[in-house]
Amino acid sequence: MLKKKDNYIVAIVGATGAVGNEMIETLDQRDFPVEKLRLFASERSLGKTLPFRGSEIPVETIDENSFKGIDIALFSAGGDRSKKWAPVAAKSGCVVVDNSSAWRMDPEVPLVVPEVNPEDIKKHKGIIANPNCSTIQMVVVLKPIHDAAKIKRVVVTTFQSVSGTGKKAMDELVEQTKDILNFKEPRCEVYPHQIAFNVLPHIDEFLESGYTREEMKMVNETKKIMGDDSIKITATTVRVPVFRCHSESLNIETEKKISPNETRAALAAAPGIVVFDAPDKNVYPLPVDVAGKDDTYVGRVREDDSVECGINLWIVADNLRKGAALNAVQIAEKLVEGA
Ligand code: A2P
Repeated sequence: MLKKKDNYIVAIVGATGAVGNEMIETLDQRDFPVEKLRLFASERSLGKTLPFRGSEIPVETIDENSFKGIDIALFSAGGDRSKKWAPVAAKSGCVVVDNSSAWRMDPEVPLVVPEVNPEDIKKHKGIIANPNCSTIQMVVVLKPIHDAAKIKRVVVTTFQSVSGTGKKAMDELVEQTKDILNFKEPRCEVYPHQIAFNVLPHIDEFLESGYTREEMKMVNETKKIMGDDSIKITATTVRVPVFRCHSESLNIETEKKISPNETRAALAAAPGIVVFDAPDKNVYPLPVDVAGKDDTYVGRVREDDSVECGINLWIVADNLRKGAALNAVQIAEKLVEGA
């Protein structure tokens, strides 16, 4: 359990990565009460320093004693590192907010989006899981619609940016774009196919069912966060050559009829959502506009008249912020509030 203090010793594990960097920035921007920030990464990063609030902080490697004295540790260094080190950190008395998929479906570990199920934070036993980036922005939008009209079924298709894979994937998109524009053969290392000028209907590993792990994360994590197993969900997850922000097309079937206007009103009144919907003026959410923003943007709200009670909409959120670093820092803020 976190003890009440004026300021906290905070660690970021995976500090040199795309999400880790965003975590450092988010702690600063939100004036998180940090007494001391400790940064961890792999041996490759030893000797590096990263700036935080006017000082340069050295990057350390992790060992059994690293977490002693740390109050809160934000992990984003991949599932294997989380599996190994999150229990060590929790045992040392610090509360872990883990961005990997390692602990998300563990019944002992709360899976939290503060706008949806903040009450679950209290149930933690040292580890709190941050959901998958595509799931976070979807449940922020599903929650007010579920409260207003009870959701029966969701069909989601995602358009996910390369920063969701990490820094190497962002570099690969730059390099492939340069190569192709210079009539050179692009090199494919991160993805099985060229991502520049392309669209890959493949995120994470394929399962025997034909779905990918990413698709099943969206299905299973949504039920856990919403605390409702009766919601039916089916997902197709797609990687697109965009650097930041995931976009999603949602088809939502509800028990009670809800009009597009009522949907917009419910969404506008909910926390963390901006309704950005004026198609007559070409106004709808776009990754280039939403990059760097905290809220989840919703547009193209319209009735699905192929079913009795159906709504279609389009959502965009910054996967590095709300989809990862911001959600983790918001969980840490709730922890501090409740300490
Ligand atoms: P490093 O930069 O030293 O490799 P991304 O998802 O953007 O690729 O970032 C992954 C993050 O996880 C990086 O900060 C990376 O550090 C870190 N990482 C990778 N392997 C380890 C490890 N064995 N111990 C600690 N951090 C690690």
